[in-house]
This record gives sequence, C-alpha cells and structure tokens, in this order.
Amino acid sequence: MGKLSMPPENPFYTVIDIPDEYFCDRNEETEKIIGLIANGSNIVLKAPRRIGKSSLIMHVFKNKAIAEHYNTLFIDIYGTKNASDFHAEFQNALLSAPFAKSAKIKRTFESMVKSAYLDLGNYDTASGTVSFPKIGFTPSTLPKIPLQDLFDYLEHTKKPNLVVFDEFQQIQEYPERMAATLRSYIQKMSNTRFIFSGSARHMLTTMFQMSNQPFYKSAAPMDLDILSLDSYTAFCKDLFRLGGKSIDDNAVSFAYHLFSGETYLMQETMKETYARCAPGAAAGKDDVIEAVNELLSRKETDYRDILSRLDNKKERNTLYCIAIEGIASGLTSSAIMKKYQLDNASSVQNALENLGPDKLALIERIAKGTYVIQDRLFELWIAAKSGILQTKFLEAEARFYRQREIAERINLP
Ligand SMILES: Nc1ncnc2c1ncn2[C@@H]1O[C@H](COP(=O)(O)OP(=O)(O)OP(=O)(O)O)[C@@H](O)[C@H]1O
Ligand SMILES: [Mg+2]
Repeated sequence: MGKLSMPPENPFYTVIDIPDEYFCDRNEETEKIIGLIANGSNIVLKAPRRIGKSSLIMHVFKNKAIAEHYNTLFIDIYGTKNASDFHAEFQNALLSAPFAKSAKIKRTFESMVKSAYLDLGNYDTASGTVSFPKIGFTPSTLPKIPLQDLFDYLEHTKKPNLVVFDEFQQIQEYPERMAATLRSYIQKMSNTRFIFSGSARHMLTTMFQMSNQPFYKSAAPMDLDILSLDSYTAFCKDLFRLGGKSIDDNAVSFAYHLFSGETYLMQETMKETYARCAPGAAAGKDDVIEAVNELLSRKETDYRDILSRLDNKKERNTLYCIAIEGIASGLTSSAIMKKYQLDNASSVQNALENLGPDKLALIERIAKGTYVIQDRLFELWIAAKSGILQTKFLEAEARFYRQREIAERINLP
C-alpha cells in the first residue's frame, strides 16, 4: 500500500481504521478472509473484546484484492436495540457509501426524507439540503426504504459487494425474530458476501452452529486469536526505530503478558511508552511500567465511578476477590469466603450474576466456576489500590500462560 506523506506524531494507533504501515501482522488472517470471500463463502468472525476484529476487517477492505473488486460496506450494530434500529443503521451505511453515490435508491430516499422533513419542519429549505439522521437521533422519524429494496439494490450492483455486520450477536437482543428475517434475504443473495463479526463467542457459535438456528452453517467460522508475541515485538521495534528510538524485547513482552495479548491495551501502553521516550533513547520495562501507571491514573475517575455504582458490599467484595486472585476459582470455598469477607455461597452467586456479562459486564467466566475481571486495566487498578500492583507485575507472565491453558482446554472439540 502507498506510504503516508507525513509520518504521524505517534505511530501506535488506537482507532479502528489503521494505515497499513502501522498495522501489525494479520497476514494469514487477511489472506484467509480474502480466500473465503473469493470462494463465495460468508464468514463468521469471532474473538474476545478488543483483540482486533473491526480493525482487521478495515484492513481487509483496503487490500487491493477487495478494494478493486468489491463494493464494501461496514455496518456496526453495537448500539442497536431492535429491528428498526438495525434497518436504520443498514440504510444509513448503504446510502452514505461512495459506491451508492448516484444510485437511484439514493434519490428515492432523498425525496422520502425531504417530504418527511418538510412535514417535521426541519428540512433546510434555504439550502435545500437534508443531512441523514443518525441512529439515536431521530430513529422513529427516519423514513425507511423497505429492507427488501436495500437488499435488491445490492443484488444488482455492477461490482459484487462485501457487507460486514459488526457485533452481529446484537440481533439476538432484539424483541423481533431478526435472525429469521435476515436469513430469508441473505440466503437469496448471489452478488453479496457477508462477514458477521462479534465478541460474544458463545452466542455467535450457537447462532451459526446449531441446526435449529436460522443461520445454521451459513458462514465459515473463523476465530481470531491474539497477535503472536514475536510479531508484536518486531512491530513495536520497527515503529520505535522509524521514530529514531528503540525498545527492548523484554519491555514489549512485559506489556504483552501483562495485558494477555489484548491488542487495545498493548497499543495504548506502547503509544504512551513511545510518547515518553526521547529521540535517540531506548525504552525498557521500567518505562512500560511508568506508561501503565499513567494509563491507570487516567482511568481513576471512570473506575471510581464504576465502584461507586456497586452499592452492594457483596458485589464489591466479590469484585475485589476476583481482581486480587486474578484467575479466581473456588469462590464459594470457605477459605476464599473468609479471606474476602464473602458472607455465604448464595450471595456470592448473586454477586457473580450481577457482575457478569448479562448485567454489569465487569467479569467474565473463563471456565466452570472460574472468573476474571473483563478489563485487565481495571484489575490492575484495583490491585494498585490494594497495594499489590507489584505482585501483579511479577506474576503477569505465569498468569498469561495459565489463562491460555484454560482457554485451550475449553476450546477442545
Ligand atoms: N493488527 C493491529 N495492529 C495494530 N493495532 C491494532 C491491530 N488490531 C487492532 N489494533 C488496535 O487494537 C484496538 C482494538 O481493535 P478493534 O477495535 O479492531 O478490536 P475489536 O476486536 O473489534 O474490539 P471490540 O470487541 O471492542 O469491538 C484498536 O485500538 C486498534 O487500533
Ligand atoms: Mg469491534
């Protein structure tokens, strides 16, 4: 891909759309996705939070094999609550796509909006312009082109289309039976490939692999793993070198293990480490620790807020217990309950429920009876408040391998 004319002030990106030269690895995954699409497959792309699903898809979009031969559409349905929100988000994405610029469907829509907005009195008659309303803004007044027409339009474009529904598991939260509706359109499409991506692994697996589900076997499954330590190390060293700086291998591997290979937190840490490193200087593990401390202090208000919203002492104690244990199991054993002043097994169960993915989403169950804090930085913050941050640093590598081992055991067929 073409080089940027001006190098960025900081080469560590924390947005979804990353220029290719600052994007780490994912070569195999990129090839695999392109191969499947070229073969006519749809894909269901799964990975835990903040590993890099959305960025990978944007990276694939920029690849020549895709960019030159497909129209691409990225639809993030994370914030959608029902079929109408979904519809609006899909329509907005389609109508603002460059490839639909002069499409008839767009003109039809503009006249629909114009009349609706004239009625509502918020169409700018002076300039004659309408801006497309965004979701959450005026969803109920947004005129809708029937879904059938949106899919029909895609079916008749000159180039084939690649459509991504990001955070696809969200449709399972709708009151409507959206999966069945969508399937009826999608299965008839010959001109469009779909990528369904999301982080609720279990839910997506159920949606695509259970024979009683509408999307059963309609997409090739793909699990996105964390970046390898080798490729992330080489990547960081290259970017430091480009800026006339350097970083030790063990500084990168410390960040890698500390954050369990989670791309977002590693990138945030490297961004901060890079910013603090003077030109010509070499960053080491201590500099990474300083960067982590800076990230922790920036989150102070947010994390305090989260805690203050846990009015229930049992929840708070359970949260602290998991944060301090790191990988916590046997929470209802008498030793653990005594150590963390947890009253009784049923109140711990209650607290786990409330802290879990369906409610506050602060903790995650990684195996039967085994929990971790979802946001590793939050765990470190609690550790810092409890005076055991240093221990967390020392244990980071061992903990990384333990968690990987548990995950592998769970994923065995
Ligand atoms: N290959 C990569 N190289 C460099 N940075 C990356 C890479 N992949 C992802 N990132 C960075 O990691 C962060 C998380 O990536 P992304 O948002 O794509 O993850 P995600 O899996 O879609 O997360 P979520 O579940 O929250 O939607 C982003 O800040 C992005 O900039
Ligand atoms: Mg994402």
